[in-house]
Amino acid sequence: MKIDIVTIFPDMCLGPLNESIMKRAQEAGKVSIAAHDLRDWTTDRHRQVDDEPYGGGPGMVMKPEPFFAAVRDLKRDSPRAKVVLMTPQGQRFEQPVARGLSNEEHLIILCGHYEGVDHRVVEALVDLELSIGDYVLTNGAIAAVVVVDAVVRLIPGVLGDARSPEEESFADPEVTGHGPLLEGPQFTRPADFEGRQVPPILLSGNHAKIAEWRHEQAVDRTRTNRPDLLGSDK
Ligand code: ADE
Repeated sequence: MKIDIVTIFPDMCLGPLNESIMKRAQEAGKVSIAAHDLRDWTTDRHRQVDDEPYGGGPGMVMKPEPFFAAVRDLKRDSPRAKVVLMTPQGQRFEQPVARGLSNEEHLIILCGHYEGVDHRVVEALVDLELSIGDYVLTNGAIAAVVVVDAVVRLIPGVLGDARSPEEESFADPEVTGHGPLLEGPQFTRPADFEGRQVPPILLSGNHAKIAEWRHEQAVDRTRTNRPDLLGSDK
């Protein structure tokens, strides 16, 4: 997979995407990720990417021209690349969206800033507007990193074989046979840490009982932290 991020803050993306699993995925050739400076597609002396909003109002709006030039360039060799815009006005980014995007060959992720992006960018260039949650960040670069991380780890071979991404919180209900549950608590050595014991069932070696206990814990945690995932009647 190829991923191009277009932002006025490419350095905000580079650190997080060049560590750990994201770094190894690139080294292994599973994905190539580039963060581009939107200003490289400006043509004026000041490299201006924003302007005042038509109709008045506070803040600035990002100009269409640099985005159009960037997408035209980045799509040159792959006209069917999927174009995503990071914006708090977008559809909520959730695990099924990540799963869908992990099947794409080429993602171009555009990051907004200021009060928004000229709407002609959305109309003409963007396939999918995504928000990572109901809060407003200063710009879309960190949101793009969140999306890239969640998508890249789902590319086959990126995570080790030790664990299937489908076993964890937000696993696909069609795979697990039940609705999405949060993962229950996990423990590792020591069995007694400053008087706090690991639940004895986990030391019992009874795998059927352990699986049952884990399921109950998952339901409890979901009910406490995310009752919305269980529906209002549960
Ligand atoms: N840009 C600013 N806030 C954002 C959010 N919540 N999601 C995606 N992009 C954003």
